[in-house]
Amino acid sequence: METVREDACIATERLQRDCRKGEQHSLDPVNKLQFRFLSRSENVSLARLLAAALAASREMTVAELDEIKVAVSEAVSNAIIHGYEGRDDCYVEMSLALTPEQLVITVHDDGVGIADIEQAIKPSYSAKRDRMGLGFAFMHSFMDAVDVVSTPGAGTTVTLYKDLP
Ligand SMILES: Nc1ncnc2c1ncn2[C@@H]1O[C@H](COP(=O)(O)OP(=O)(O)OP(=O)(O)O)[C@@H](O)[C@H]1O
Ligand SMILES: [Mg+2]
Repeated sequence: METVREDACIATERLQRDCRKGEQHSLDPVNKLQFRFLSRSENVSLARLLAAALAASREMTVAELDEIKVAVSEAVSNAIIHGYEGRDDCYVEMSLALTPEQLVITVHDDGVGIADIEQAIKPSYSAKRDRMGLGFAFMHSFMDAVDVVSTPGAGTTVTLYKDLP
């Protein structure tokens, strides 16, 4: 997974270098979007629509687009509900990168963080009694890889990878 991530970074850096030099790149262009939005529940659907719109620029079935939407919804909902403990005045950051091989989506919050990531990603584990604990399970089953980096007291970054045909 690390290698895949490094590859995406290397491809992006090469394109940026070539753009600065004014060169045309032979590969498909990498498209990249970065934005941040308030931790309000209505922004969950906007975030997932943007991810699906970018994914739809490549060959993708409706079912696959729906899966990406669910995975993004789960990651963004977690940032709002758990990371920011339901506060609606904090910022969630999201980046979307489309490389020739992959769609890479990161969702970042500067919230409470996760003390035990291994436990958090277990299906049916939830810190809250009224929740199912299935968000990470959906992300894992609908995406090709999921990476979670978190620092208690500082925040969480979830990276979702979807391989493209
Ligand atoms: N961004 C985050 N910041 C802090 N804790 C998080 C974050 N994302 C997930 N967690 C922790 O990981 C646990 C598992 O997350 P998961 O999405 O799988 O289940 P859930 O959100 O509790 O329930 P569900 O998604 O089914 O409503 C959460 O209960 C929470 O403790
Ligand atoms: Mg969840």
